[in-house]
Amino acid sequence: MEETAYAKLNLALHVRARELDGYHRIETLFAFAEEGDRLTVAPGEGLSLSVTGPFAAAVAGEGDNLVLRAAEALRRRCGVAEGAVLTLDKRLPVASGIGGGSADAAAALRLLNRFWGLGVGDPLLLQIAARLGSDVPACLRSETVRGEGRGDRLVLADRSSLRATPVLLVNPGVPVSTPAVFKAWDGIDRGALGDDPLVGRNDLEAAAAALAPEIFDLLGLLRAHSGVRLARMSGSGATCFALFESETDRDAADAAVAAAHPLWWRLPTRLR
Ligand code: C5P
Repeated sequence: MEETAYAKLNLALHVRARELDGYHRIETLFAFAEEGDRLTVAPGEGLSLSVTGPFAAAVAGEGDNLVLRAAEALRRRCGVAEGAVLTLDKRLPVASGIGGGSADAAAALRLLNRFWGLGVGDPLLLQIAARLGSDVPACLRSETVRGEGRGDRLVLADRSSLRATPVLLVNPGVPVSTPAVFKAWDGIDRGALGDDPLVGRNDLEAAAAALAPEIFDLLGLLRAHSGVRLARMSGSGATCFALFESETDRDAADAAVAAAHPLWWRLPTRLR
């Protein structure tokens, strides 16, 4: 059995306040790409996880992987006796603002709910997801949705018009720490997120670019292309994305980025 951990994008991300617990109150519009990491499961004793793929080495250092924490949480909550042998094909760069561990954890909940035949409904799965991280509930849905609070309070919105929009994701190869970027936010509330993501912002762009200046070059490069509807950083960076009028425009931009920066990671895909 297999599940995709779809790459997460924040089409807009407004930071409204720093709370006393150190977390930030945000308003964001999540969207998801058609591609992502792949998680597979087979029967076995206990819970185990092996990681393969181009970004496996970056995950290997983490003793406490979010996939195993998700599996353990679901198993405990539902009193499951069976085990699961999990394999994560890590195709997305880590610490890069496109979900990563959160999308993997959400995929583990969806996959094991099916694999163990639990039939757990959305309310309980969302509750388990929220304890694993602020972005995990949105990743559980993996559809365009507005997030408030820490990003974990979901407000469903009809965004069917965005479906199949051509998108290019680019990462300049610099891992960026989410807590460090939130900490570097200047504390200025620049206003609420309205209905149109195109007129929104990512309030973490300046903070992230102070830590990884490549982000400015990358955004400039993306915005210079024809057919770009929107180019912005996702989450706390450093991955940036552009939405395009057509797949031809997207592929031309992809080729141009590859020529200018052969070592940057790129994913030409579509919104799901
Ligand atoms: O919720 P999660 O564990 O994914 O968050 C990782 C870190 O990102 C938190 O420890 C916090 O420093 C920061 N964060 C934040 N405000 C949010 C979400 C995350 O400050 N709304």
